[in-house]
Amino acid sequence: MKGQQTIRFQVQPGGSLRGRIRVPGDKSISHRSIMLGSIAEGTTGISGFLEGEDSLATLKAFRAMGVQIEGPDNGRVVVHGVGLHGLREPLHPLDLGNSGTSMRLLSGLLAGQGFDTELVGDSSLMSRPMRRVTGPLAQMGAEIATTDAGTAPLKIRGGRRLRAIDYQMPVASAQVKSCLLLAGLYADGRTCVHEPAPTRDHTERMLKGMAYAVSCSAGVVCLDGGGRLAAASIDVPADISSAAFFLVGASIAPGSDLLLEHVGVNPTRTGILEILKLMGADIELSNPREVGGEPVADVRVRSAPLRGIDIPVEQVPLAIDEFPALFIAAACADGRTLLTGAEELRVKESDRIQVMADGLQALGVAAQPTPDGMLIHGGPLTGGSVNSHGDHRIAMSFAMAALRASGPIGIDDCANVDTSFPGFVELAGRAGLAIEA
Ligand code: S3P
Repeated sequence: MKGQQTIRFQVQPGGSLRGRIRVPGDKSISHRSIMLGSIAEGTTGISGFLEGEDSLATLKAFRAMGVQIEGPDNGRVVVHGVGLHGLREPLHPLDLGNSGTSMRLLSGLLAGQGFDTELVGDSSLMSRPMRRVTGPLAQMGAEIATTDAGTAPLKIRGGRRLRAIDYQMPVASAQVKSCLLLAGLYADGRTCVHEPAPTRDHTERMLKGMAYAVSCSAGVVCLDGGGRLAAASIDVPADISSAAFFLVGASIAPGSDLLLEHVGVNPTRTGILEILKLMGADIELSNPREVGGEPVADVRVRSAPLRGIDIPVEQVPLAIDEFPALFIAAACADGRTLLTGAEELRVKESDRIQVMADGLQALGVAAQPTPDGMLIHGGPLTGGSVNSHGDHRIAMSFAMAALRASGPIGIDDCANVDTSFPGFVELAGRAGLAIEA
């Protein structure tokens, strides 16, 4: 649901994906560009910004805290930074829509402000676990109230003095790590976050790009509070998580040959490439370059017969948003694919294990959900009707499944595709998917 509007995708079976396309900007980097640009000193120019509802929710939140932000205009945004202590109290609760990244990162940043704030969101966001951030923030001296279930609204008390902590994260989460680093900017002393497995490091890279000293060594990242951020220019690469639908679609649809331009290939995000290659996908990277501290490449994908695999557990955090798409690849592969160690999927925008298993079964696929993953036997896909439960990545994954289905696929509750991938229907249509909204 988007307001009162529900959107259904209808996708005709068959076809192939061909040509050159550029998917929209990286969501994680877009959020961070607004957050860090706002608390930097000077003017940060951003290009390639994702004009999706999630990153726009972050942008609006900082405008509501007095930051002058121009744009977005064709991916260009100009943020007039107010410095670490220049934010102002918003007049209303900050509504972060569907965006877990906005809520979790902001909770850390706002715990260090001199004013109170309240964070709210849509029904999905208001049911997601927030104790993973409010717990360690409380250890730093923050005061944040949640519901008894540990969910939003988050009521953050300002004017608290934060002290640094040395924190061992129980789950591999870039959102928790980033939240604590942002709180650490405001804390007395050195904040260190230990991660049980590598997670995306865009916050660390961007802080360094803004001349803030961050020390990273195996499994731990530290920074000292009380420094200053210098404005920078940020070029946001295309989002590999959005490219993922096309990587899977082109792999499974015979006759496909697609070039995805300017894709972010930060090694903490490339689990999708590694897993698809293990399954036999034909993926080639060219023109590797570094843009604003982030590695970028063009990615060519051609159709190839896929085989089922046991997904290596160390790849899970590096592909955490790509499993809905990977489950479609597994359904089209020869043999069985087993995912384990991915219980986090149950607390994403939807319960991605259950919702994907239900949808796959509706299309005739032998998909068996487990507490921490899924067992999928590849085989023919029928057409049918599936429900995305308002989860953008599930909607786009089932759209790609039609490339290999024997009948049309209808997908309900697709309005949230705009949170991460505005223009998906048009772009997928241009590449060769027979999709209508
Ligand atoms: C994100 C981190 C991941 C990911 C989310 C974006 C980020 O969440 O699923 O879509 O931008 O830091 P977790 O850190 O909770 O795994």
